[in-house]
Amino acid sequence: MYIAMVSAECAPIAKAGGLGDVVHGLSRELLALGQEVEVFLPGYDSLRHDRIDGRREVFRELRVPYFDQWIECRVDSGEVDGITCFFIEPDSPHRFFRRGRIYGEADDADRFAFFCRAVLEFMLISGRRPDVIHCHDWQTALVPVLLFEMYQRLGLTDVRVCYSLHNLGYQGVVGEAILRQVGLDPARLMTPDRLQDPANPRAVNLMKGGIVFSNFVNTVSPRYAWEIQNTEQGMGLQGVLQTHDGKFGGVLNGIDDAFWNPATDRHIPEPFDADRLDGKETNRRALRAYLGLVQDDKPIVAVVSRLDYQKGVHLLRFGIAHACALDCQLALLGAALDPVVAEQFRRLQEDTEGHADCRLVLAYDEELSHLIYAGADMILIPSIYEPCGLTQMIAMKYGVVPIARRVGGLADTVFDANYSDRPFEERNGYLFDDLTESALAAAMERAIDLWRNHPEYFRQLQINGMRVDRSWGRPARQYLDIYGHIRVH
Ligand code: ADP
Ligand code: GLC
Repeated sequence: MYIAMVSAECAPIAKAGGLGDVVHGLSRELLALGQEVEVFLPGYDSLRHDRIDGRREVFRELRVPYFDQWIECRVDSGEVDGITCFFIEPDSPHRFFRRGRIYGEADDADRFAFFCRAVLEFMLISGRRPDVIHCHDWQTALVPVLLFEMYQRLGLTDVRVCYSLHNLGYQGVVGEAILRQVGLDPARLMTPDRLQDPANPRAVNLMKGGIVFSNFVNTVSPRYAWEIQNTEQGMGLQGVLQTHDGKFGGVLNGIDDAFWNPATDRHIPEPFDADRLDGKETNRRALRAYLGLVQDDKPIVAVVSRLDYQKGVHLLRFGIAHACALDCQLALLGAALDPVVAEQFRRLQEDTEGHADCRLVLAYDEELSHLIYAGADMILIPSIYEPCGLTQMIAMKYGVVPIARRVGGLADTVFDANYSDRPFEERNGYLFDDLTESALAAAMERAIDLWRNHPEYFRQLQINGMRVDRSWGRPARQYLDIYGHIRVH
């Protein structure tokens, strides 16, 4: 099968969060299963060029309509860990993707809408006829709309679309001019059963368009699939998802076990696995040395996170203080996009400067993240919502016990040491429900108490977490089933 992934992110060359890991890990697994996969990305200036092999121009004058003019694009291709990627970028003066970061610009919606049209135009002109286009999040939601409203007639017949929702917190709600920009007719599409935003009839909801027009829609965990259809977590799209229930489901993400594997990880000083858990001690020492933590008899509580409202930043701030109050060491690695949150954490960093047991690294640092996972004992994940969450899965692979809120993919992957109805061999962490400091504190206290007073049970929790197969094998086969299903229905 020929699968075209269209996305705003692909690790390691363009990653802002878990979406990048998913596109990379799933594409690699599909290739390993013998499928033909190509990834289509904007040609960001910020691409990690050092990780792209054999980059070359494949198309110079791709002419893409934009309002009433034509914009010429250049298309390059290159290999990323064996995956063929295409990078599409308008020529100057419209260098849309010439910015330092992937998201966060005022014209995000315009840039990604243009990208959707450019991808389809490139497929049409270059003779590409994917069996399935797999789109991700609001940035690529116009692909199915454009395909079925326009490009199917132009020649992209028999192409099906699978659309994955990674985060309902970002739906792409914008003015209707965006439709005219890419050549679509607002009068036809601005209806309650199509792209009209459920809360604001004058606005377009791009994610809703992706849901309505795609042949299959999934989100990234079964629990989040239920939450977004049945609770406020749907953030206004509950009704749309219920209407399209017959083509909707949850597929739990995997993690790339070639990359996230403590037995082979090049970024950590000592390899270890579930049978050689003592190897974690060397990594713990290295982490302490790196961060300048002196005492070596305290548990290390970690945070590795985008510092965003979604991640429960108020609870993270409390958790940092509480870990120190409980005489633990605290290591946070986090980056904030929002200036208010960035400022809060900068101040907290100032306040904790000089504290013997508390280190906040306010940056995005892939390499340090490996050392933190390898050296930490517990990790805090108090998310307000969490479509899947890769952090807890990576952490568990490295023998880190998660203390997490029971939402979304966290509820599907973390099983409480005390209260789970699962057999003991499957329990691997601590969960809490209420979005309150006291609920988080109680879960932290249970975990730290076990670490201090019953180390042999704590070790068993670590081993239970490490032994689970979280590779892409199973989810990739589930996606293949979905692709196969929409090919014939
Ligand atoms: P989200 O996509 O919502 O940010 P996930 O848990 O799905 O959350 O994925 C987060 C990914 O980003 C993980 O691979 C995690 O290790 C990584 N990550 C998050 N923050 C940082 C950071 N500051 N530095 C390095 N890696 C980070
Ligand atoms: C989003 C979600 C996260 C998920 C990731 C990959 O960023 O916030 O929960 O793991 O996408 O699907």
